[in-house]
Formats: sequence, C-alpha cells, structure tokens
Amino acid sequence: MILVTGATGTIGRRLVAELRERGVRVRAMTRDPAAARIEADEVVSGDLDRPDPALFAGVAALFLLSPPGPETAAREPAVLRAAAGVRRVVKLSAIAADDPATLTSAWHRPGEQALRDGFADWTILRPSTFASNTLAWAPAIRAGEAIPNPFGDGAQGVVDPADVAEVAAVVLTEDGHAGRTYTLTGPELITVPSQVAVIGKVLDRAIATVDLDPAALPEPVAAGVRFVRDGGNAVVTDDVAAVLGRPARSFEQWALTAW
Ligand SMILES: NC(=O)c1ccc[n+]([C@@H]2O[C@H](COP(=O)([O-])OP(=O)(O)OC[C@H]3O[C@@H](n4cnc5c(N)ncnc54)[C@H](OP(=O)(O)O)[C@@H]3O)[C@@H](O)[C@H]2O)c1
Repeated sequence: MILVTGATGTIGRRLVAELRERGVRVRAMTRDPAAARIEADEVVSGDLDRPDPALFAGVAALFLLSPPGPETAAREPAVLRAAAGVRRVVKLSAIAADDPATLTSAWHRPGEQALRDGFADWTILRPSTFASNTLAWAPAIRAGEAIPNPFGDGAQGVVDPADVAEVAAVVLTEDGHAGRTYTLTGPELITVPSQVAVIGKVLDRAIATVDLDPAALPEPVAAGVRFVRDGGNAVVTDDVAAVLGRPARSFEQWALTAW
C-alpha cells in the first residue's frame, strides 16, 4: 500500500492515476474524501497538521506532499515522526531548496533534513516551476489583458507536472533511488515571455506581457522572485530522463494538450 498525501492536487492526482496504472494499491489522503473525486483503493480523511498514526498502518511507502506555504517547515518533521515505521518515503520538495535565497527553501529544508535523518530509504524530488502554473493566466488571457511578468528575462527549466508525477511513481515502486535527490526540470530553459508566446501560438492569438517590478511585491516573495530574475533558477538537468528513460516533455508539448 502506498499512501499519497496531497492526492487531490496537481501532482498527487496524477500520481494516484500513475500508481493505479502500475497495479499498486493506493491510499489517497485528503481532508475531505466526499469532495475528492479520486479513484483509489482507499480514500481516507487526513490532515497533515494532525498526523494520525493510523494513516500509516500497513503502508510500505509514503509520498509526502505539503501545500505551498511556510507551515511546511514545522508540519513535515511532525508527519515524518508519525510515519516512523514506513519503509520508503518520497518527499516532494522544490528546486534549489538548499539555497536560502529561494522562497521555498525555508519551507522545505526541515522536512528534507528530517527525512534524511529518520529513514534509510528516502528520495527527495525537487521540481522546477510547474508548467501548469501558467493556467493561472487564463482569466487575463480571456480578458485580453497583458500577463504580469515579475521574472524579467530569468529563464527556468519549467517542468510538466505529469513528468513529476511519473518520476514519483517510479521511485515509489522501484528500487535504486534510495538516498537520491533529483532536480526535476523540463528539457530547456524558458522565460515568461517565451511561455506566453507558446501559449499565444497554441491559442492562435497575440498575448502581451508587462514587466512587474519585484519591489512592488512583499518580502519574502520579492526575494524569491529576484532569485529567478537574476538567473538562479536557470537550471536544466537530465534527472527526468534518467529516471523515466525518455526525455522530459517541453513546455510546448505540455501547452498543446493543456491549453
Ligand atoms: N507550483 C510549482 O511551480 C512548484 C514547483 C516546485 C515545487 N512545488 C511544491 O509542490 C507542492 C504543491 O504541490 P501541488 O501543486 O501538487 O499541490 P496543490 O495542487 O496546491 O494541492 C495541495 C494539496 O494539499 C492538500 N492539503 C492542503 N492542506 C492540507 C492539510 N492541512 N493536510 C493535508 N492535506 C492538505 C490538498 O488536499 P485537500 O484539500 O483535498 O485536503 C491538495 O491535495 C508544494 O510543496 C510546493 O512547494 C511547487
């Protein structure tokens, strides 16, 4: 049995489907099973802020995903203490999680450390920015408005969330990934204006971007944005291809089906 937290979200929903395709038994956790609309062997009620040890009974592997936010720092070590008997744990982290200049490092480092300290069979997945984040632009595109771009020319190895889920399914179900930290990116670097151009091509319409000064944003968001703007996230790795045995999907491949 594999316990998937965050099972109703972007990565978790795809991961549950991937695991079921592999014939693995899945316990999908959500705070509201009645609203979840997930197909899994078990859909269980659970809250990461109150990790009930019963959630982990009979669980061979745990996929630990916390929603974005500073609460992750205290939440994940507590969840991992409750999960002490689980043999394998895979944690979703974020790219450059060990660089204090990133927005997410403070969220993810305590969970990463607790995982390394408490488990022999651990794997950390550090994805780059998800391609699906761009779906938040849909209302502006529909309204004919320009897309605000806080990242300037800062390029990122934007990753297809389906690739992240597929990597998670592999490392949860196959041996050979214990003690590994994978940085999951797409196959190329891409800026916000280039992402917008791809979406414009797919939708066959002109979409503008407008530069957004990070100084207009509150800290620590502004610091995280400056990190990307200054090229800190301009990273492409082969980790998706190494785990999956095929190249990572490009932003354009993702956009052709998602938009
Ligand atoms: N977006 C990016 O570009 C990006 C890049 C790298 C890393 N990440 C990391 O990816 C993670 C987010 O993944 P995602 O986008 O797949 O998530 P998401 O779509 O935002 O979904 C969040 C999930 O968390 C669950 N959840 C929220 N609060 C909870 C609680 N108190 N207890 C239990 N479950 C709770 C929700 O389930 P219910 O509401 O059903 O309970 C939902 O399934 C974050 O850790 C983020 O740092 C994101």
